[in-house]
Formats: sequence, C-alpha cells, structure tokens
Amino acid sequence: MPLRVVNVLLLMLFLATVALNWAERAERDRPHVEILPEMVRSAAAESFSPNPVFADGKTLQKPAPGTIPRGLLPLHYQATPEDAHRAGEELTNPYSLNNENALKRGASVYANFCLACHGPTRAGDGPVARRGYPPPPAQPPPIKDGEMFHIITYGRGNMPSHAGQLSREDRWKVILYIRSLQQKTVAQAAGGKP
Ligand code: HEC
Repeated sequence: MPLRVVNVLLLMLFLATVALNWAERAERDRPHVEILPEMVRSAAAESFSPNPVFADGKTLQKPAPGTIPRGLLPLHYQATPEDAHRAGEELTNPYSLNNENALKRGASVYANFCLACHGPTRAGDGPVARRGYPPPPAQPPPIKDGEMFHIITYGRGNMPSHAGQLSREDRWKVILYIRSLQQKTVAQAAGGKP
C-alpha cells in the first residue's frame, strides 16, 4: 500500500475519532450503549407476584432452614414440665438484686402484668383471681429463677404465656422483683422492718 493511502486512512480515522468524540460530548451523562442493562436496573418483582425464575413459581421464598431473625436468641426449651425443670438448672438471672434500675423496671412489670392475678404480695389474691379466675398458689413453692423464666415464657396450667408481652430482659427483671418481694416477706416474718 502506498504511503499516501495510509496517510489518508490515518487522517480519516483521526477525523472520525474527533467527530465521534464531539458528538458524544452532547450527552455525556447518558451512555449510548448499555452493556448488561439488567445489572444496572434489576427487575423489581412484587413479593406476592408469580415468578417463573423459581422452581415453586413464587417470588417470596422461604428462608433457608435454620435461619434466625436478626437479634433473636434461640431458646431451646419446649413447653413441658421436664423442660421447665431443665431451664431451672441451666438458666440464671443476668441481673442482681443490687441493680436498682432493673428492680424498678421489674416492679413496674409486676404491677402491670402479674399483680392482677398474683396480688400485690404474690399471695394469689389479685383482683382477677378474687373475681373467679383460678387463683395462683397463695404460697408459691420455691422454684429456681430459670424455671420461673420458663413459666413466664411458656405458661403453665392456668398461667398464660407472657412471651408476647414481655421482652426477655423484662422477664428477668420481674423475676428479680419477685425475689426482692420474697426477701421483704421473709424479713417481715422474722419480725424485722419490711
Ligand atoms: C391471668 C392471671 C395470671 C397472670 C396475669 C399471671 N399469672 Fe402467674 N400464675 C397464674 C396461675 C393461675 C398460676 C398457677 C398455674 C398452675 O399451676 O395452674 C400461676 C403461676 C405462676 C408461677 C408458678 C407458681 C408461683 O407463683 O411461683 C409463676 C412463677 C408465675 N405465675 C409468675 C407470673 C409472673 C411473673 C407474671 C407476670 C409477668 C404472672 N405470673 C402473671 C395466673 C396468672
């Protein structure tokens, strides 16, 4: 190929590049060619709409087996007397009696969620029990904190579960308050000041 032809071709290529560059400058924000546009704008399917992509034809897929919601701590107990006993052996209250704030919160939880049946001093004489609801025991048997936690969580006999109303922290705090109530009762029985 003669040198002159090469030069002409190179000049044309140069001019074409300049022209393209100039034309492209008009709409710099908008790409003319999109490679894999689905990656830029994914198709948003409605949760309950059918979906051919999945084997069961549904958009909303079940979580993988064993998935735990963020923040949830599993509690490995069943609502059985055996597991209530096991909870008593295995679980301990994370709060101690010298924790003023926890006690305060526990007192408030007790007044709002337990007193109606169990009564102010836990003698089983709350207003609900006095009006005919099967009363809780007047002299509750001594049980461990963990077993109490199990009873509050899963219920027992006529005592309904409070897992839906009370966070785990609140359940432990109300147990703490019950322990402080017991200490007061013991002190009173011994003739000391309440
Ligand atoms: C609707 C009435 C009712 C409410 C509200 C209630 N309880 Fe009970 N609770 C009972 C009854 C009835 C029993 C006896 C259950 C049985 O053995 O049949 C009981 C038993 C218990 C026991 C075992 C026996 C004992 O007293 O040690 C614990 C612990 C207990 N409840 C704690 C609580 C706590 C803590 C709350 C508040 C968060 C609460 N209950 C709220 C009715 C209630």
